[in-house]
Amino acid sequence: MSKNLLEIKNVTKVYQRGLLSSHAKVALKEFSLTLKEDEPTILTVAGESGSGKTTLAMLLLGFITPTTGEILYKGQNIVSLRGPDRIAYRREVQAVFQDPFAVFNPFYTVDHLLTVPIKQFKLAKSGRDARNKMDEALNAVGLRPEDVLGRFPHQLSGGQRQRINVARALMLKPRLLIADEPVSMVDASLRANILESLRNMHRDHGVTIIYITHDLTTAYHVADSITVLYRGDVVEKGDVESVIRNPQHAYTRLLVDSIPWPNLDQKWGQHSIRSQASQDEFHAGAPTP
Ligand SMILES: Nc1ncnc2c1ncn2[C@@H]1O[C@H](COP(=O)(O)OP(=O)(O)OP(=O)(O)O)[C@@H](O)[C@H]1O
Ligand SMILES: [Mg+2]
Repeated sequence: MSKNLLEIKNVTKVYQRGLLSSHAKVALKEFSLTLKEDEPTILTVAGESGSGKTTLAMLLLGFITPTTGEILYKGQNIVSLRGPDRIAYRREVQAVFQDPFAVFNPFYTVDHLLTVPIKQFKLAKSGRDARNKMDEALNAVGLRPEDVLGRFPHQLSGGQRQRINVARALMLKPRLLIADEPVSMVDASLRANILESLRNMHRDHGVTIIYITHDLTTAYHVADSITVLYRGDVVEKGDVESVIRNPQHAYTRLLVDSIPWPNLDQKWGQHSIRSQASQDEFHAGAPTP
């Protein structure tokens, strides 16, 4: 029988606002999910703002604890992980967040940012080995080491920062990557590039990815399956093709209706260029006043 990589069992998260329990906010309700160790997959969790997506990410990373229910990583409750098991979990479960700036210390260079995890998790045998690992990870996300190493975060573009985050995660060879709106702050041309490196990470290293987004167009291109959250409730789940082509729940239908359909089968990154081109045509054809 194949083992479970991750098992989320009836997890509910209630945020207390102030001391009065009447001000409590249920951010996630009875959420369950099982991911198998030997079946790497890409799962999208989609939903509008405030539906509980980041709450789920925070729970999985152990930054917050469930109010009820439990999260098991390789069969062990993440709350009670200690010693080597805890270190393994912290290396094997990585995250990429929406705002790539938020996780950078502005006073440290990119080298430092990438060296810290190498040292922390003893990933390299020597300085040269460490440098090779950095180069390999940067190349994998389409960055040239000589362009970014030695620089400070503010000397990089948003897209470069986000790709460095992906490279950092990649270097750690995680089993599970939680990507919370990883491309919503970068422009469309880079979006394709970053999503492609996530897909490669899945394909080449068997990383399971939980891709959190409100954008079903990218979900369609990236994911195998999808879970739709609405105000903390799972309203629909299934493989991405059937959910998007044939949504059952009214809220999913609403999300699907906001997809620019003619572009769904187009390759990533072409959409914005096309629409820019058609705008230009529009302006070119408009009568001059
Ligand atoms: N620390 C907190 N204390 C109280 N309420 C919170 C806290 N964090 C989130 N919430 C509330 O919980 C709900 C879910 O928030 P969450 O951040 O998980 O949503 P989200 O789906 O990630 O939204 P977005 O798409 O805007 O990022 C929201 O109503 C939010 O206001
Ligand atoms: Mg969020």
